[in-house]
Amino acid sequence: MKAIITGGTKGIGKAIGQLFLEKGVDIAINSRSQVDLEAVQSEFKGSFPEREILIKQTDVSKPEEVKAFGEFVKSHWDKIDILINNAGVYVMGQLLDEDEDVMVSQINTNLYSAVHMTRSILPVMLPQNAGTIINMCSIASLMSYPNSGSYTVSKFALHGYTKVLRDELKEKGIRVVAVMPGATWSAAWGDIDLPKDRLMAARDIALVCWNAVELSPSAVIEDIVIRPQLGDL
Ligand SMILES: NC(=O)c1ccc[n+]([C@@H]2O[C@H](COP(=O)([O-])OP(=O)(O)OC[C@H]3O[C@@H](n4cnc5c(N)ncnc54)[C@H](OP(=O)(O)O)[C@@H]3O)[C@@H](O)[C@H]2O)c1
Repeated sequence: MKAIITGGTKGIGKAIGQLFLEKGVDIAINSRSQVDLEAVQSEFKGSFPEREILIKQTDVSKPEEVKAFGEFVKSHWDKIDILINNAGVYVMGQLLDEDEDVMVSQINTNLYSAVHMTRSILPVMLPQNAGTIINMCSIASLMSYPNSGSYTVSKFALHGYTKVLRDELKEKGIRVVAVMPGATWSAAWGDIDLPKDRLMAARDIALVCWNAVELSPSAVIEDIVIRPQLGDL
């Protein structure tokens, strides 16, 4: 199988890449940092020498770069089984006092990236009549997450996009899944001082993604809500 994972150099995206490689899946990842991409590629190649690991520096907030990444992957692969729209940014703040550009930049990165990525890959997936698209939403897709104004708006929008896509692809054999994690250890949390088990491990999110992929084609998990055992932060 072949999987695209956006934002594959850190946190949840990197954990998904690692698990999918363990399961025998070739991966294509992007991020804004060429240095990080090469470091992750070389780390993964050390453990999985037989797997293909494509990398391309991409800023997913820029539609032309997303399209270029899609073309790059399509120039290597003539089939794509899995697309995980994972790349995202979190900017803390409230709608009432955020800078004007904060919502625009988060919607560009957290919503439009997935829209353009999906549009680029669907011409390969549709003729296959099979495939799985997973959009990394958030519990902030379900509730107003405190002090996360524009982020919450962007993740509600991504969930809305996921629902419509699910409906439109229902008859085409392509599954569409919304994964909605609560607090998960990743670079996004910086060096917050909390016990390890207060947040989920990124691998837990990777495991539910794999679970959604390995079901028979007649089943789709539409929404996956996964939280730390001790609840939200
Ligand atoms: N961690 C959580 O608690 C949590 C909870 C719910 C949902 N999520 C969602 O899960 C996803 C992954 O989050 P994470 O916590 O794993 O974050 P992370 O550790 O900060 O990793 C984000 C990944 O996305 C890449 N990325 C960010 N902006 C990008 C851009 N404009 N273009 C290309 N790549 C970009 C990053 O690489 P570069 O920075 O080098 O580009 C990195 O590889 C996000 O969509 C996030 O909203 C996270």
